[in-house]
Amino acid sequence: RDVAHTLERYVEAIVARVFDDSLLEDLAAAASIPVINALSDTEHPCEALADVMALGEHLGDLRGRQLVYLGDGNNVAASLLLAGASVGLHVRVISPAGYEPDPGVVDRARVIARGTGSRIELAADPVVGVVGADAVYTDVWASMGQEAEADERALVFPAYALDAEKVAVAKPDVTVMHCLPAHRGQEIADEVIDGPHSVVWDQAEN
Ligand code: NVA
Repeated sequence: RDVAHTLERYVEAIVARVFDDSLLEDLAAAASIPVINALSDTEHPCEALADVMALGEHLGDLRGRQLVYLGDGNNVAASLLLAGASVGLHVRVISPAGYEPDPGVVDRARVIARGTGSRIELAADPVVGVVGADAVYTDVWASMGQEAEADERALVFPAYALDAEKVAVAKPDVTVMHCLPAHRGQEIADEVIDGPHSVVWDQAEN
C-alpha cells in the first residue's frame, strides 16, 4: 500500500513484474494510477500482446489460424490462450499430464472464444497436435521461481521439445515462437530457434 501511494506521486503508471499475483492486486487496489502486469506466476499479458502483434506481422489476419503451444501450461500459455481467444486465433496447448494450464484460465478463454469464433483446445500428443499448425510456440520447462523443480521437470518435458521433427509436421510456412530467455537444446533446438521459421527476434523487438 505504501509503495503504491509513493509511486503514484512519482510516475504515471506502475509496470510490475512479480511472482505472487496478489501483489499486483494489492498494488492496483491501493494505487490511483494504472498497474500493468509485466509477468506474474499466472499470466504474462504484455508478452502475449507483443506475440499477437508479431503473429499479425507474419500471418496477417489471425482469425481461424492455428497457434500450437508446446510445453508447460504456465503464465505464457495462459496469456496466449486469453489473447488468442480475443483475436479469433485457434489455440491448442499441448502439455504433459500434470502440467496443463489452469482450468480457470481455459474456461475464461473459452468464454471469450465464443464471441470471436476461436477454438481453445488442450492436447497431450506432442507430435500429432502440431500437424497443420500455422504457428508453434514454446517456453522454458521451469519458469522463474520454479528453479527447484528444474531437474524433475527435465525428466518429464523432453518429448515436448520443439525440434525439427515437430516443425516438419506443421504447415510448410509455420511460424516458430519463443518468449525468451530460451534454454537451447532443452525446450527448443538450436536449428529451430535459428532456423528460417523463427520469428523470435521479432517477438523480442515487439
Ligand atoms: N514462463 C517464463 C517466461 C519468461 C519470460 C517465466 O515465467 O520464467
